[in-house]
Amino acid sequence: MDRKSVVLVGFMGTGKSTVGSVLSKRLGFELIDIDVLIEKKAGKSITDIFNHDGEKHFRDIEEEVIREIAGMGKAVIITGGGAVLRKNNIENLRKCGKIVCLTATSSEIYRRVKAETHRPLLQVDDPVKKIEELLSAREKFYAEADIFIDTTNLTTEAVAEEVIKALS
Ligand code: S3P
Repeated sequence: MDRKSVVLVGFMGTGKSTVGSVLSKRLGFELIDIDVLIEKKAGKSITDIFNHDGEKHFRDIEEEVIREIAGMGKAVIITGGGAVLRKNNIENLRKCGKIVCLTATSSEIYRRVKAETHRPLLQVDDPVKKIEELLSAREKFYAEADIFIDTTNLTTEAVAEEVIKALS
């Protein structure tokens, strides 16, 4: 491993946060969670930003936070599932290091997220349909990553191991 950061992208529920936390310990790298930085900057939760200010405002803060960390080394950077949607973000994340995309099947994603309430995009009547729609709309954006790891049948530790193997 060099001094470049590891950037985790991927859909909601693909394990970016849990894997990121294991990776940061294993690599001795600082853990940077873009969603946490967005909440700090806005002074409110992601749900409140979406509900009160709308998704575009959330995306604007997301872009600003990513611009601020562009080029940062020796960190594990966890992004939100939609961070890949703006070209600027991909370019700024690439300046940090390799972009690793975690994937999972839509049914596994649903199994992982169904009990959770903190993702405004999935608080809809038919979350399975929404997951499928978003996954297909975002496919081409996730395809910008350098490395892809299917987490569907892997433990957090095993995914972290795969990321390290793929990077070395
Ligand atoms: C989003 C994913 C969330 C968070 C926000 C929007 C998305 O992050 O950034 O709710 O557009 O996919 P996680 O992928 O960590 O759930």
